[in-house]
Amino acid sequence: MRNLVTGGAGFIGSHLVDALLARGDEVWAMDNLSTGRIENIDHHLSHPRFKLITDSILDRPVVGEMVAACDAVYHLAAAVGVRYIVNDPLRGIIINVQGTENVLAAAYAHRRKAVIASSSEVYGKSTRVPLREDDDRVLGPTTINRWSYASSKAIDEHFALAYAAKGLPVSVLRFFNCYGPRIHSNGYGTVIARFVRQALNGEPITVHGDGRQTRCFTFVADMVRGLLAAGSVPGAHGRVFNLGTTHEITVLELAHLVKTLSGSTSEVTLVPYEDYYGQSYEDTRRRVPDTTRAREVLGFLPRVSLEDGLRRTITWCREHDFVPQAASAVLTPEAISVP
Ligand SMILES: NC(=O)c1ccc[n+]([C@@H]2O[C@H](COP(=O)([O-])OP(=O)(O)OC[C@H]3O[C@@H](n4cnc5c(N)ncnc54)[C@H](O)[C@@H]3O)[C@@H](O)[C@H]2O)c1
Repeated sequence: MRNLVTGGAGFIGSHLVDALLARGDEVWAMDNLSTGRIENIDHHLSHPRFKLITDSILDRPVVGEMVAACDAVYHLAAAVGVRYIVNDPLRGIIINVQGTENVLAAAYAHRRKAVIASSSEVYGKSTRVPLREDDDRVLGPTTINRWSYASSKAIDEHFALAYAAKGLPVSVLRFFNCYGPRIHSNGYGTVIARFVRQALNGEPITVHGDGRQTRCFTFVADMVRGLLAAGSVPGAHGRVFNLGTTHEITVLELAHLVKTLSGSTSEVTLVPYEDYYGQSYEDTRRRVPDTTRAREVLGFLPRVSLEDGLRRTITWCREHDFVPQAASAVLTPEAISVP
């Protein structure tokens, strides 16, 4: 089986590449290396079943050729992260909407199975706990750039479901806060990346607000298991799935856990949101997935505990010289925890 993985040099995409190769498949990774890194996949570059295509998903003819030559496509390429979404919303919208349509149109033309990466961000400011796939979405105004990411992912979902209605075998996965080795040091998945960096550098571990906001963090290997299931379970076609753990933790507890697990002497300090994001900050207090559908249809059950996952992440960060630039340098008021 030959799989196309768009965004295959990215954080989650590269782990999916590892898993597909490990199960004996052929993998073509398509990535423009904008936020992806060659180091994430360089261990495969001479693998006979692996090929890297350094091109953009906006190149419709190339996408068409690649999809036609593969049996299935896992579409993870996207403009992600605060820097890209807030600083260049136009680029983000074009990549996420046009790029995804290119992938879906090609999959439809050649009747290839498609799995589309979406995000818990589509729920926006919804206060429902837990969040179910068919719940209403609550988004802020279009004048706040942050919401363009949620909107672009929601349009991707509409595209996918519209193609599904025409017979395309496609599934949509809404990822909830993923972390693990190869995590981005300064953008996406920032809370864990930032805490680990601060802990390893002996800097204060800065928690925003009162630290009582909660999140559910999912280890990347679990996400990959969900992706593989979505790519192979026929009952997944035409459906949207929450993918994540339901283990909720406050950000303050997380900070202390990172400190303990890394053996750091850093202090944990509370910082007002405004100091970091400016006055117009809006936080989502809780974002907990209802994963019943993923469990029942995909057999999805996260296996890696937060403690174990954090240990593995911290080890990786230590071994990979995790001393990135200050994330605060690129944040603006709208840059609110894009997951
Ligand atoms: N990490 C998370 O917690 C999380 C949460 C929700 C959703 N997601 C979604 O999961 C997917 C993967 O995210 P990630 O965390 O691995 O981020 P990532 O930035 O590591 O991965 C995105 C990849 O897409 C590539 N890319 C960007 N624009 C491209 C283009 N025009 N053509 C080809 N490649 C392009 C990047 O170089 C990168 O390798 C994305 O669709 C993202 O929206 C991730």
